[in-house]
Amino acid sequence: MAKKIRLGILGGGGDSLIGILHRVASQMYDNYEIVGAVFNPNHEESLAFAREIDIPTNRIYKDFDTLVEEELKLPKEERIQVCSILTPNFLHFPMAKKLLENGFHVICEKPFTTTYEEALVLQEAQAKTNAILAITHTYTGYPMVRQMREMIKAGAIGKVHKVDVRYYQGWINSIIHDKEKRSTVWRLDPKKAGISSCIADIGVHAFNMVEYTTGLRIKSILADFNYLYDDNQMDVDGTILVRMDKHVKGIVRASQVATGEENGLAIAIYGDKGGLRWEQENPNYLKVQSDTEPLQIFKPGHAYNSELSLDGTKLPPGHPEGIFDAMGNIYKGVARAIRGEEYNDGEFPPMLDAVRGMDFIESTVESNKKGNVWVDLK
Ligand SMILES: NC(=O)c1ccc[n+]([C@@H]2O[C@H](COP(=O)([O-])OP(=O)(O)OC[C@H]3O[C@@H](n4cnc5c(N)ncnc54)[C@H](O)[C@@H]3O)[C@@H](O)[C@H]2O)c1
Repeated sequence: MAKKIRLGILGGGGDSLIGILHRVASQMYDNYEIVGAVFNPNHEESLAFAREIDIPTNRIYKDFDTLVEEELKLPKEERIQVCSILTPNFLHFPMAKKLLENGFHVICEKPFTTTYEEALVLQEAQAKTNAILAITHTYTGYPMVRQMREMIKAGAIGKVHKVDVRYYQGWINSIIHDKEKRSTVWRLDPKKAGISSCIADIGVHAFNMVEYTTGLRIKSILADFNYLYDDNQMDVDGTILVRMDKHVKGIVRASQVATGEENGLAIAIYGDKGGLRWEQENPNYLKVQSDTEPLQIFKPGHAYNSELSLDGTKLPPGHPEGIFDAMGNIYKGVARAIRGEEYNDGEFPPMLDAVRGMDFIESTVESNKKGNVWVDLK
């Protein structure tokens, strides 16, 4: 077994939502060791959390700049190799930039940055190094999503002509309808979240799922947002028409006020020979449908699945695996890339997906602002 990859964590403290997903995912295939971190802006809290999860505290730094400075003093074979950026959105750009410029690999949470321009700066920074960058569109790590991608690539549904992805949650209802509360969460603060809330938070996952599964590019969009209250500057719901080509069209829907919805991501891709449907809350079932044949259900771990899909299951069929495993698969792909091993380009979303995601977010904001007009992606 190759030596473990030395991982640094930025954000993702004990108070965070996403930290535990990354920590568990990084340990899943025994590829990584967490050696350094800034879990929280408050150093005492960071140290306390490191003690709680039993990580040595000698490389729990007081802030991000100190982490980079101190790590660069260490010999290369001891230094952090890759950092996971799990902070609120506005910190992704300065952190990723400095990391890439100093030769660290980066695993970054979405949305990649707060503007498309920043994303381009990071793309340029990466091009100057051999650094790996992955953007954690977690759902691409599910075996049956990978199977969708491989089946569409192999022509199983013929020529794609319609895409429909829906990402509905209801959690922001408890905040948005309360004037005081809606001014206190970072996701509704443009300074911390960027130009969009709902679309940048979950709509961008939906966008990425369409491009990841079909291998096609969305060329233009028309967006209609809902802000619900005049004093709220951030979208909490959006419906977006998408055109991939003259005859390939569809819809991306995202909402955080879809009352009663939990993490309702559902994707359907239709072609001239068949259709594929998958739902995140029931991730081990991929529906394969046709106008002439009975409905088929594909499940993970069976030999009939593609190599990419099978690489994402650890246990024999019938042992449900979920979101932790999906993120674990992304970390596994990144580990292969860092070690210079061969990997399938479907194993993790790379820089191009990160940049396209920001193009999508910014284009939807522009479309909505201009009165719901068609906007071309760059
Ligand atoms: N891939 C996914 O499915 C998914 C799901 C949820 C969140 N996210 C993304 O993950 C990121 C974090 O989201 P969250 O819900 O965990 O947020 P959160 O508010 O729950 O946690 C943020 C964490 O960052 C820490 N932090 C803040 N400022 C910091 C600084 N200067 N230095 C170090 N740590 C700092 C906070 O202390 C906290 O631990 C966001 O960009 C979000 O969009 C992705």
